[in-house]
Amino acid sequence: MIAALLCVLIFLFLTWRFLSGRRTNLPPSPPCVPLIGNVGQFAPEDSIVAFRKFRQKYGDIFSLKIFHKTVIIVNGHDHIYNLLLKHGDVFSDRPAGILRDFFSKGKGVLGSSGSSWKEQRTFSLNVLRKFGFGKRCLENQIMDEVRGLLEVIEKFGGQAIDIEEPLTISVANIICSIVFGKRFDYNDVKFKRLLFLLNEIFHVTTGSSFLVLFPTLRHVPFDIFKGQTVQRNLDEIQSFIREIIDNHRLCFDKNNINDFIDAFLLEQQNQEMEGNASFTDEQLVVTVQDFFSAGSETTVTTLRWAFLFLIHNPYIQTKLHKQIDEIIGEAIPQIEHREKLPYMEAFVLEVLRMGNIVPLGLAHCPNRDFEYGGYLFPKGVTVLPILDSALQDPNIFNNPQKFQPERFLDGEGKCKGTQKDKMIPFSTGRRVCLGENLARMELFLYLVAILQKLEIQPVDTSDLPSLKGHLGITYMPKPYKVKFIRRY
Ligand code: HEM
Repeated sequence: MIAALLCVLIFLFLTWRFLSGRRTNLPPSPPCVPLIGNVGQFAPEDSIVAFRKFRQKYGDIFSLKIFHKTVIIVNGHDHIYNLLLKHGDVFSDRPAGILRDFFSKGKGVLGSSGSSWKEQRTFSLNVLRKFGFGKRCLENQIMDEVRGLLEVIEKFGGQAIDIEEPLTISVANIICSIVFGKRFDYNDVKFKRLLFLLNEIFHVTTGSSFLVLFPTLRHVPFDIFKGQTVQRNLDEIQSFIREIIDNHRLCFDKNNINDFIDAFLLEQQNQEMEGNASFTDEQLVVTVQDFFSAGSETTVTTLRWAFLFLIHNPYIQTKLHKQIDEIIGEAIPQIEHREKLPYMEAFVLEVLRMGNIVPLGLAHCPNRDFEYGGYLFPKGVTVLPILDSALQDPNIFNNPQKFQPERFLDGEGKCKGTQKDKMIPFSTGRRVCLGENLARMELFLYLVAILQKLEIQPVDTSDLPSLKGHLGITYMPKPYKVKFIRRY
């Protein structure tokens, strides 16, 4: 009897909380079912399409109720720009959820907020600039890794291969050089394990899944929400990083700062002398984890999309080969060539647009109640800036579903114009991707160097791999094979 009464009271309380949430001036939402809200009305892995449909019905800004939690969905370049950039003083925190409470526990760069985020982001950017973000030495490091990859590809002698693993090793080694001051061999078992663990996290977690919104679900038995897999993987990744930090500490010499970890340890010493303890070992572990999680899979996925678009559009590959032959010939590709290869620049932009690898953006939240567009954004509410809506916006990109690098070229064949300015694959505002410069350098140099030497061919021209991807943390192509054939 008491149990039944308790159940009724809990039901009434939850219904009251649910309805009181709806009385405020929140953006419109699809009809909600008491207690569960909009759960069951779309599958997290199909959120891109579901959100496009909701947008048509409820407008650019709408809200969803996932159990008792409100999520505000913001569509369209201008709204995203207004909130994240113009009102960046309000919208630069991370809300409660997997990123803040599980992956980073409020530390590092990716999942932290407030003064801690500002301090770590500023420090990271300064150090990365010092170690060559946007500079020549980084260009050389990237080219070393591209050469290594080309040697591996060469060994397959034109057979069909899935490039994902060697490409991941190659790209992750660039982060290793910056952060650890060393690179790993293609056969290094421990390094391959680290990359496998990261990759698995990206596959099993979907941007809008229950686990992302409610990280406590990781405690549910039988690993239904894959939270225990993610936890296990994170623990192993972090112990790998701790071991490297310990080795750095053993050989630390403040007059010989070689990499990001050294720079952090130096700052830690300086801060401790001034009585500031914010540069802790845990901050360092999470920041390094952030660089790996945000900085390798993203570039690899974008390059994998690029190869797919090339085999689906052979005329584009022919044009790229021609421009590379004319402008670079057999010289070593350099960032300086970017301006002289406008078609390649336009191709990279179109890959970023159509690859659409962070379609749901990363969650932000306002640090106070805020009114925008006639709606209330309550303090701390999860806000998803849907980058997909900006990259596929028909008001900016004519025929947005078509892969067409030419859209970024002006009448003189130069890569510029409003469409280029409105591209936000790296998001916008104060939290804009910290690795944007590095990623743009990597994409350009890998693609130019690969196409300079090789032609990418499908295994079967009558049965091309699908352009429909899988939505994990990023939107990634499904596994596929291609042939890399020597051009001369
Ligand atoms: C094509 C490759 C990449 C794409 C499309 C991409 C995209 C993004 C996006 C959309 C965000 C979320 C920004 C926001 O919160 O609004 C982000 C954040 C971030 N990215 Fe990237 N990224 C790429 C490569 C990289 C690389 C190479 C690094 C290397 C370090 C990196 C490091 C980060 C970090 C640390 C953040 C968190 C920034 C913050 O919260 O303040 N990313 N990226």
